[in-house]
Amino acid sequence: MMAGHDHEFTMRFLAGAADRNIYGNVHGGSMMKWMDEAAYACAAGWCGLPCVTVSVSGIVFHKPVTVGHIVELRARLVRTGRTSMAVAVNVLSADPRHGRYEQTTSCMMVFVAIDEEGRPTPVPKWTAQTPEEQALQAQATRLVELGEQIQAELRAFEAA
Ligand SMILES: CC(C)(COP(=O)(O)OP(=O)(O)OC[C@H]1O[C@@H](n2cnc3c(N)ncnc32)[C@H](O)[C@@H]1OP(=O)(O)O)[C@@H](O)C(=O)NCCC(=O)NCCS
Repeated sequence: MMAGHDHEFTMRFLAGAADRNIYGNVHGGSMMKWMDEAAYACAAGWCGLPCVTVSVSGIVFHKPVTVGHIVELRARLVRTGRTSMAVAVNVLSADPRHGRYEQTTSCMMVFVAIDEEGRPTPVPKWTAQTPEEQALQAQATRLVELGEQIQAELRAFEAA
């Protein structure tokens, strides 16, 4: 498939022993890396350009993921700006013996497309097609604005 045409990306695999934390479940850091990779593949697949993560919002780990269970990461583009793309990521997991998927965590990530010098560069505009996509797009716009306020508040910790 050519880059620049797909606004969704899903990956699925078995969580292995290399990602086990000291309690025997999947390490939160591994989960965040996979979320970043899935969202990157979604954003890069949409714009067909190199892109970098600029922000991550709202990661909450609702349930531990057991090593040996299937991890499914569903990334979908929910908003484009001039050079930025907001990607919603949902993580589900299931015991492969019964395949009942449960929500594990979710977040929204913003990526920026860059040129050879690392400068922000325009991305193809994405237009929501369905009422569900329109609702997600409106929600993503509110979250980006909220994210700017939260990031401004977080600057208080930068030199702490
Ligand atoms: C991403 C980066 C190129 C943006 O540079 P910048 O000088 O802030 O660029 P701009 O101010 O022109 O903003 C570019 C876009 O990013 C968005 N953006 C910038 N900072 C943001 C933030 N903190 N949260 C969400 N979006 C942000 C802007 O809204 C703008 O979007 P738009 O063009 O759709 O309106 C720069 O911050 C960078 O290189 N960051 C490091 C990225 C990185 O190393 N990531 C980890 C490894 S991949």
